[in-house]
Amino acid sequence: MTGSNHLLDVYNIKVTFKGDDGAVNALENVSFHIEKGEILGIVGESGCGKSVTSLSIMRLLGQKGRITEGEISFKGKALTSLSEYEMQKIRGNEISMIFQEPMTSLNPVFTLGNQMIETIRLHLKLSKKEARKLAIDMLKKVGIPRAETIIDDYPHALSGGMRQRVMIAMALVCQPSLLIADEPTTALDVTIQAQILDLMKKLIQESDASIMLITHDLGVIAEMADRVIVMYAGQIIEDADVYTLFDNPKHPYTQGLLRSIPHMDGDEVERLESIPGSVPSLQNMPKGCRFSTRCAYVTEKCLTESPELLSLSRGHSARCWLLTKDNAGDVSEFHQVFI
Ligand SMILES: Nc1ncnc2c1ncn2[C@@H]1O[C@H](COP(=O)(O)OP(=O)(O)OP(=O)(O)O)[C@@H](O)[C@H]1O
Ligand SMILES: [Mg+2]
Repeated sequence: MTGSNHLLDVYNIKVTFKGDDGAVNALENVSFHIEKGEILGIVGESGCGKSVTSLSIMRLLGQKGRITEGEISFKGKALTSLSEYEMQKIRGNEISMIFQEPMTSLNPVFTLGNQMIETIRLHLKLSKKEARKLAIDMLKKVGIPRAETIIDDYPHALSGGMRQRVMIAMALVCQPSLLIADEPTTALDVTIQAQILDLMKKLIQESDASIMLITHDLGVIAEMADRVIVMYAGQIIEDADVYTLFDNPKHPYTQGLLRSIPHMDGDEVERLESIPGSVPSLQNMPKGCRFSTRCAYVTEKCLTESPELLSLSRGHSARCWLLTKDNAGDVSEFHQVFI
């Protein structure tokens, strides 16, 4: 299960939340890996399970959420069976996370310095003075001007873009091997967004770490990711390197997502096509393929049997009955017909 170059292996996990009306499965049969030095993009509509996937890795699912099946291993160590104490040593140190809205993770009542120094000293054996120096160096690295004075400011004194830079500084200060970035730039305007993404990529590449980048934005994926996972209703429905995903998407849902990004054609922007229908609710999942309620190519089998993630070629897989040999003959021939 663990390949030699794999930093993280998620193997067949199921995540269940207990609620007042019973339990719901937010993730099912989710398997993927992240290689060392790789940027893995995760994309999919709201509610498909992107954040739950990252919170499962961090073991931050809260009181009601639990990984009920499967295993997650990081550097060959099963995270799913570590004690909370052992997990705390990994969080913020070997695996760190950047959230969409920095004010939810920056504490408004402490200065940036206090928060950074606390994180540093939790994981590295440094004096307060050394930790402060490291924090200032890191703030400079992420492009914070006058880092020596800003470090004593409170988070609200900074603009959104600056706060997000501080979050990156905090996430990277202990040199994690894996950075999980959950919609890290959605709240920012487009120019700042590009700067922050560039910065993240540069810093991570310098330290040969990996990024799991969650986003709604296929443009960000095209710009940043080496490989992409597409999620739909709590499952992975396609997994491919970024070029294959854009040039040769196989799942009807991925094809629909790609058709929904605007293409410049001369001076005209082509009209967006959106996928008709809506995502089924966790309480009311279709029995067969979860995309069957919206799929233009739905067959009888799709309504009754749930497809597995099918390996199509090296590093490319998709969860669709139409891609099986029985249904489509040669997959490449099928592809000609399909898009
Ligand atoms: N604490 C919770 N209790 C119950 N259900 C939850 C909980 N957290 C998430 N879910 C459910 O799990 C599913 C996946 O949620 P998740 O937050 O991972 O979506 P997402 O893909 O990150 O969406 P978005 O793009 O809007 O951030 C949703 O149906 C959500 O309602
Ligand atoms: Mg989310």
